[in-house]
Amino acid sequence: MTKQIVTGIIGAGRIGKLHVQNIRRIPHMKIKAVSDIQASRIKSWADSHQIEYITSDFRDLLHDPDIDAVFICSPTAAHAQMIREAAEAKKHIFCEKPVSFSLDETKEALAAVRKHGVALQVGFNRRFDPHFKKIKTIVENGEIGTPHLLKITSRDPEPPNIDYVRTSGGLFMDMSIHDFDMARYIMGSEVTEVYAKGAALVNPSFAELGDIDTAVITLTFENGAMAVIDNSRQAVYGYDQRIEVFGTKGSAAADNSRPTTVEVSTADFVMKDKPHFFFLERYKDSYEEEILRFTEAIDTNRETACTGNDGFQAERIARAAQQSHAIGMPVSIEHTEKIVF
Ligand SMILES: NC(=O)c1ccc[n+]([C@@H]2O[C@H](COP(=O)([O-])OP(=O)(O)OC[C@H]3O[C@@H](n4cnc5c(N)ncnc54)[C@H](O)[C@@H]3O)[C@@H](O)[C@H]2O)c1
Repeated sequence: MTKQIVTGIIGAGRIGKLHVQNIRRIPHMKIKAVSDIQASRIKSWADSHQIEYITSDFRDLLHDPDIDAVFICSPTAAHAQMIREAAEAKKHIFCEKPVSFSLDETKEALAAVRKHGVALQVGFNRRFDPHFKKIKTIVENGEIGTPHLLKITSRDPEPPNIDYVRTSGGLFMDMSIHDFDMARYIMGSEVTEVYAKGAALVNPSFAELGDIDTAVITLTFENGAMAVIDNSRQAVYGYDQRIEVFGTKGSAAADNSRPTTVEVSTADFVMKDKPHFFFLERYKDSYEEEILRFTEAIDTNRETACTGNDGFQAERIARAAQQSHAIGMPVSIEHTEKIVF
């Protein structure tokens, strides 16, 4: 029988609150505590979710002997240190993406995880989306032959608030990083070269912060295949999330999913629902599935479904994209480093 896993949540913002909702639906999981630096702001929300206590200091969760695992959902800049300290406290760790903004910090955090023998899963939830998982299986089974080209369209319906943007690490590290992980996951090959172009076309505030809101990125894989990713922070018709992979025997594509499949046809138009509004709706299933897979890894003492190395490799691609955008040239990634657990 599955052992109960007692959890603590660090950071109760957009994604932390979503994980709380999902964990509460899993019978063998319990949320004991939530830590947020703005603890007073979340009091009534925490009470309504039967959370035993809230604290502004995440270390209180690490010192709590009842807590088996923590979910790190704070802004990215705090992740690496929290991972290190959670690993030292022998807590299993689910950490939101990206692991950090610095490859050295990520390596140190992953070294602590390895040293203390705890489980770490990185929150690249799109791997658990049923549509994208099916594409992965089709590619793995050789149904489309050898994959040559991957196309990912990944556009948000609206930009995040400017305070989030300020601490987000920029479009490549915050947003495209999901697509970098998806590219590695679907193609089953490491990325060796990145060529990225970007601009602030949606909102000049992005440029004022040294960021961009629109990008086109090409990737080359170790096996010679290529990918094109296009990103925008603002698609007026909703969350545009599509993938196509093309190979020697055919192609497989996942279209946008919509609240209903109803199509209205008249003499003047054919109309269907807009895509789901945003990630909370579009990737609902994937957020539930990733937590179940995390608990399985803890129970069985096996590797998690999205490892620290997956986090590290996606970050390397994001870093290369930043460099490529800055210098206007393709940037190579040497594949000598893999973090093995
Ligand atoms: N997987 C996904 O789809 C997904 C979606 C959104 C965000 N994220 C990631 O999740 C993280 C959080 O993003 P968000 O959108 O929820 O941000 P958010 O700003 O909505 O929430 C962050 C929360 O963390 C709290 N916080 C800040 N410092 C803290 C600390 N030291 N200890 C405890 N709490 C602290 C803030 O008060 C806030 O409530 C980021 O790393 C982001 O990249 C992932």
